[in-house]
Amino acid sequence: MTPQDSNTTKGAVEASFIDVHCHCLPGLDDGPPDVPAALTLCRALAADRIATVVATPHQLGRYDGRYDARMIRRAVAQLNELLAEARIPLSVLPGADIRIDERIEDMVRSDEIVTVADGKRYLLLELPHEVFIDPEMLLARLVEGGLCGVITHPERHAFLAERPEFVRRWVPYRPCLQITAGSFLGGFGRRSEEAAWAFLREPLPLAVATDAHDTAGRAPCMSEAYRLLHRYVGRDEADILCMENPRRLVAGEALVSLNVE
Ligand SMILES: [Fe+2]
Repeated sequence: MTPQDSNTTKGAVEASFIDVHCHCLPGLDDGPPDVPAALTLCRALAADRIATVVATPHQLGRYDGRYDARMIRRAVAQLNELLAEARIPLSVLPGADIRIDERIEDMVRSDEIVTVADGKRYLLLELPHEVFIDPEMLLARLVEGGLCGVITHPERHAFLAERPEFVRRWVPYRPCLQITAGSFLGGFGRRSEEAAWAFLREPLPLAVATDAHDTAGRAPCMSEAYRLLHRYVGRDEADILCMENPRRLVAGEALVSLNVE
């Protein structure tokens, strides 16, 4: 490493991130089981230089009917109070990790599921893991209703990881691809790692998020992923992936595309 590299790397760790996908609410889904565990995870997020996190408990799929949008918003407000009391420098916004389902558009309209930061523009969409269901029609219908899908961790889906170019057919609907920070580090295996890098070359906007659940096997590692991206695709692209597009997802603004060769 050259002295210049070491300077830019030092600058990189001073960045602060927005995490748009994290299971940090206590006792709702497969995230922390209770308040102490949630605070431990939130401390780890803050230590990972994340300033704002979107709490995204699972909705629909195997969590269908367990809690609604109102309960998620209340849990977010409570967690923010606990964070202030514990002096943990982290701000939590409401969201959800929504299993794809034909009821989604109706449920957004009836306020039963939560969009990213409650902005009514972006929705995290989780594909079933076992089979591949092409979300193209859902993405098209969402766009008609003024909404935009964020496909969570395509690099961890067996079908898409093997054929990243498949996502090109979604270009007319401009969904965001959300790649997991840990995938760049090999935390989800070789295939997901290779696919994470391959998706950077696809013509869709991307954002990196932790999808953290705990401080053990699914701990946040945004800073480390940012350092790696900074090194291999450059500072501008790393900033878009880990800061600018996450900020735009939260603000409900149009996303920036990458330029990776
Ligand atoms: Fe998730």
